[in-house]
Amino acid sequence: MARHTDVAFRQLCKEQGADVMVSEFVQSEALIRGNAKAWEMVDFTETQRPMGVQIFGATPASMAQAARQVCDRVRPDFLDLNFGCPAHKVIEQNAGSGLLRCPALLYDLVKAVKDAIPDVPLTAKMRLGWDYESVVAVEVAVRLEQLGVEAIAVHGRTKEQGYSGEAHWGYIAQVAAAVSIPVVGNGDVKDGLSAKRRRDESGVAGLMIGRAALSNPWIFNEIKAALAGQGEITPVITAQKRWDAIIRLSELTLEVHASRLGSRDVRWMLDRLHPLTHGLPGSRKIRDRMRGCLSLDDLRHLRDEHLLEISMTGLC
Ligand SMILES: Cc1cc2nc3c(=O)[nH]c(=O)nc-3n(C[C@H](O)[C@H](O)[C@H](O)COP(=O)(O)O)c2cc1C
Repeated sequence: MARHTDVAFRQLCKEQGADVMVSEFVQSEALIRGNAKAWEMVDFTETQRPMGVQIFGATPASMAQAARQVCDRVRPDFLDLNFGCPAHKVIEQNAGSGLLRCPALLYDLVKAVKDAIPDVPLTAKMRLGWDYESVVAVEVAVRLEQLGVEAIAVHGRTKEQGYSGEAHWGYIAQVAAAVSIPVVGNGDVKDGLSAKRRRDESGVAGLMIGRAALSNPWIFNEIKAALAGQGEITPVITAQKRWDAIIRLSELTLEVHASRLGSRDVRWMLDRLHPLTHGLPGSRKIRDRMRGCLSLDDLRHLRDEHLLEISMTGLC
């Protein structure tokens, strides 16, 4: 997820059971221009494999060139194409979910990328269609399979929906039934219970977790236990566990970015830590107190103070 799942956050997810991860989406033209920020976004560590790099764009030649460069430089386990982003600045270029309005261009783009990286598995992530009057998920998925795409993730919303309303898993089930490549279902999977229900009802080969992981990176192990018929369906996340994750993500983020930024100041990363505070007793006050933290030691000190406070009030 753009602006969230950088190499540090993904490491946290990997440590909590994520099986397969994909980079934030990166613009093909930015990669070709050699934009340093874009290349930083496709970076990953060996322990994060299997790892996909997701690119977006609307020009077959640029997408093909960027795909080849990414595969040569960072050797991902698969290259993923974004046909799902609903952001205005993306669809106005006909990229992301904008391509679902013009399937012919989408197919040209897939063909060009496939030809450019015959040696690397190609996957795609898409929405159902532009709106509910023009749901194209099944026809696009069938054509993608014919073009050699090896797995498809389907977010069960239309572009018009943005992130509102519900994901419609009935359409995801239709896609899963229409193709023989693995289909990964995505949208509103929030815990072990919803994961098991979605998987059983739709027949998908895998589940993709987005927003829920930001405040609950433990969700991956929880879901795996639920799918295997083991474990508590909704395990309690203690304050200690939340603080462990906050400190761990801060350490990982500093490791990744401190040398580039030339500082060990943690203030710039507080927004990334905030989702993990959800569920802490007095979380709003904690977020306010976090604003006064300059260093990792300050954060550790706040953790100790807070855990002591809640143990004294019996909330831990
Ligand atoms: C802030 C944000 C950034 C996102 N960035 C990407 C992205 O770069 N690539 C992508 O395929 N999907 C992206 N998504 C969509 C999610 O991957 C996912 O499809 C969507 O949030 C629905 O799944 P969920 O209900 O599990 O969150 C993003 C979503 C959010 C909220």
